[in-house]
Amino acid sequence: MRGYRLGAIGVLILFFAAVVATVLMPMILFNPKPTGHGNIYVSETKADPIRGRQIYIREGCFYCHSQMTRLQDRGMGPLVAAGDYCEETPHQLGTARTGPDLTNEGGKHPNGWQKAHLINPRALKPGSIMPSFSYLSIEDMRDLVAYIQILGANRPVEKFVQAPEEYAPILAAKKVDTNSDAVANVGKGLYAQNCATCHGLTGRGNGPDALSMETKPANFTRPFYKQYDDAFWYYRISEGVPGTRMPHWGENLTPEQRWYLIAYIKRFPQDHEEVVDSTKQIDRMQMEMEHVQHVWNPPFKEVE
Ligand code: HEC
Ligand code: HEC
Repeated sequence: MRGYRLGAIGVLILFFAAVVATVLMPMILFNPKPTGHGNIYVSETKADPIRGRQIYIREGCFYCHSQMTRLQDRGMGPLVAAGDYCEETPHQLGTARTGPDLTNEGGKHPNGWQKAHLINPRALKPGSIMPSFSYLSIEDMRDLVAYIQILGANRPVEKFVQAPEEYAPILAAKKVDTNSDAVANVGKGLYAQNCATCHGLTGRGNGPDALSMETKPANFTRPFYKQYDDAFWYYRISEGVPGTRMPHWGENLTPEQRWYLIAYIKRFPQDHEEVVDSTKQIDRMQMEMEHVQHVWNPPFKEVE
């Protein structure tokens, strides 16, 4: 009998210790300063975004939508900091992404689009699994759309891509001039040796090894990469991309070599949006190349 009681007490103590460590202590000890970039609940019309937020919670939008952009998120707008959420109680971070992240949804589409999408998602996004919210009253719909439109509107866009803080001292200690031609030339050699088999000699992500990969290597000629600064390139190259075959170059190349590479990669012309995602496309490109060759170098015909 006594043995059971001891065990039960032990389990209870463990349970409360876990609650204290994971719930109470963070609540007391974690007090981020407001960043001033959180959502601001203002509207120029009659619509009330605060009420819209309550409808968002009531309708369970957070079951499918998160409101938290992280470093590895692509194309979801500027990143967030803990201090962005100081005035948000309860916060709408969410844990699932059945639908896209909505942190910076505000202003992405006009009001009419948002409303039409809420009424019939499939009309605007064929194949969407988002349920229809056509049963919302006119006021509910108006306020919910007002809420969607303030999301992220106050977040500065320059925080879109940013290397983690621990990279700041590395950038400060950089001795290589990544804007110099000579350095880029050294980088070119390193690139041809280490990166071209996947990323392609022209940086378009279409190297010979790309064929067999499910997640294709990055295409450095996308306009998207214009916003990468040296620190962000360094971070991406050093740590690789989890879940893909991109290696962690931090383990294989010296910091100096990585800066040389950056000097070179930065120079790919970033105005294409051609993405190679199937073998067919590569075949097509090859055929186009052959066509060009054919036109400019017609097969030799013997004159009789
Ligand atoms: C069952 C999961 C689910 C629920 C619940 C849900 N959504 Fe969605 N939502 C999705 C999916 C999936 C998409 C992506 C396809 C699409 O755009 O329709 C999406 C897309 C969106 C988009 C478009 C994002 C963009 O710019 O492309 C918005 C805005 C949105 N949802 C808002 C809401 C709101 C507001 C609610 C609550 C009233 C809600 N969603 C409830 C799954 C859901
Ligand atoms: C084995 C194939 C492979 C090799 C070799 C390789 N990469 Fe990658 N790389 C990838 C893949 C796959 C991705 C992921 C693309 C994605 O996330 O969509 C990637 C992504 C990247 C990214 C991140 C791009 C972004 O969107 O932020 C950078 C930077 C990069 N590679 C640089 C390099 C450099 C520099 C080298 C050579 C030193 C190199 N890679 C060699 C396969 C490779």
